[in-house]
Amino acid sequence: TSLLPLLETLPKAELHLHIEGTLEPELAFALAARNGVALPFTSVDELRAAYDFDDLQSFLDLYYACMTVLRTEQDFADLGRAYLERANADGVRHAELFFDPQVHAANGVPLSTVMDGLLRALADAEAAWGMSGGLILCFVRDQPVASALATLEEAAPRAGDLLGVGLDSAEVCYPPSLFAEVFERARALGLHRVAHAGEEGPPAYVREAVDLLGVERIDHGIRAAEDAALIDLLVERRIPLTVCPHSNVRLKAVAGMHAHPLRTLFDRGVLVTVNSDDPAYFGGYVASNYEAVHAAGFTLDELVRMAANSIDASFASDPRKAELH
Ligand code: HPA
Ligand code: ZN
Repeated sequence: TSLLPLLETLPKAELHLHIEGTLEPELAFALAARNGVALPFTSVDELRAAYDFDDLQSFLDLYYACMTVLRTEQDFADLGRAYLERANADGVRHAELFFDPQVHAANGVPLSTVMDGLLRALADAEAAWGMSGGLILCFVRDQPVASALATLEEAAPRAGDLLGVGLDSAEVCYPPSLFAEVFERARALGLHRVAHAGEEGPPAYVREAVDLLGVERIDHGIRAAEDAALIDLLVERRIPLTVCPHSNVRLKAVAGMHAHPLRTLFDRGVLVTVNSDDPAYFGGYVASNYEAVHAAGFTLDELVRMAANSIDASFASDPRKAELH
């Protein structure tokens, strides 16, 4: 019998979610038509058939191609609304949404258009379901550091509309150390800081993100399991990992759930959380990711612990965390 209905009722926070990665093929085609933008696919089925990835880069190529259909504030409000409705059904009570403004800027979409649409969706979700959350502006690490800095300065007057900043896109060859100045400026603006590290990149990147970027959480971080001293550091400093099981399997970061280092990390006392990353592309929203963790041998009690970890690891206020537990 499936544990899914029960997993959907666990109060949880989703902390590793690229809003652009929630763009389902049906909405992608609807927005392409609405905006007169061409997708390099003729049908929803043909697009879905392309969801067969070898690694992170093969996914990113498709993900960035599909992002070109997102143009107006309404598009971002619709995208956010569709995700938050789906997340609410999965028991998500607090959602922190990543977005990639440099990619949208390259498509001719200003930062304010993206933020205003997503903030409207978040406000509607709070009014409708009492959901809390916010936005995390991600720098794409395969674009120049100067572009990241310029994006942060453009966002600075609206720092109050952001929870924090993150770092995503192609990882290998783009170490966190490149972005030390950017993250220092984000800290000075009072923003929280997270970074993708140790998804495909080595454990040394996770250490750099902690030591040089001052991040409060690591996104993915699964390769930290290869370095015992690094695991100790994450435990001692209580730095959570936002793990994304379906993503790791679909992008071949692991050979399968049976080979996933989650068990090692959890048993060593790392604050691990379960998240969906880009659920439209990887075959399931967050409750389905919890189900995959259960199928890999974790007990319901352990899943309850991970859901509680997600609330503790969130950037919600302390009173809000108490309410969510
Ligand atoms: N890794 C890096 N960049 C990303 C990802 C990811 O899993 N998803 C969307 N952008
Ligand atoms: Zn991610």
